Amino acid sequence: MKNHAKEGYHIAAIMDGNGRWASAQGLPRLQGHTAGVATVKTLLRELRDAPVHTFTLFAFAIANWKRDKEEVEGIWQLLQHFLEHDTQELMDAQIRIRVIGDKSGIPGQVRKTIEAVEKRSQENEGLLLQIALNYDGVDEVARLLKRTLHAGVDPNRIDTEYVRAHLDTEACNEPDIVIRTGMKERKGKFSYWRSSAFLPLQSAQSVCVGSTTLWPDFSIKELQEIIDFADPDSRLFGGQRM
Ligand code: IPE
Ligand code: MG
Repeated sequence: MKNHAKEGYHIAAIMDGNGRWASAQGLPRLQGHTAGVATVKTLLRELRDAPVHTFTLFAFAIANWKRDKEEVEGIWQLLQHFLEHDTQELMDAQIRIRVIGDKSGIPGQVRKTIEAVEKRSQENEGLLLQIALNYDGVDEVARLLKRTLHAGVDPNRIDTEYVRAHLDTEACNEPDIVIRTGMKERKGKFSYWRSSAFLPLQSAQSVCVGSTTLWPDFSIKELQEIIDFADPDSRLFGGQRM
């Protein structure tokens, strides 16, 4: 799918449930993350025929550093492997890769690989794949403020367009739908939503959908169902019906 006219939707996902998926089958947690990466690869192949121009994935939160060293190292190894070994397939699919988050805190070898992949894929005209690594939405705002002040930007230049154009995500390209998988099933009338500081500003007008599916079991079929369910085209963006 060509990306020029940005046909289709921007879909963002909090990929939750890898650990529970592994535990349910008596496997170590890291196997769940391995299965989660496999799901991403399958989706990327299938997204070529789906109405999606941008796919933004929450892969590693700043808060995830709190996990066991073994799990943290394992996740970074998986990410490194994905970015290094699957580049050719991503290139063949014309996927453009952009990493969002605080790159300065990403392990050196992974950072080098990210820079190479971003550069190599920057002219690609297919799907934009944004991967949130070492990301936290409040940290994103802190870095934006710091950059803006360091650059001595005239305060009169700062408006909503300025902010939308200077966040980590591609300028003025906000998700139509944010999905969170691995939601726990609850009985009764309430359901809840926790953003985990994923794209707090960019998701201001997104339709947020929770799914009890664990990320490794997520599929293109479910994504299509969610797009139909969320119906982002029916949003009024605070306006009123004619
Ligand atoms: C999310 O899955 C993946 C990452 C944070 C990298 P989890 O690891 O949080 O899976 P659960 O919630 O323990 O099942
Ligand atoms: Mg979790």
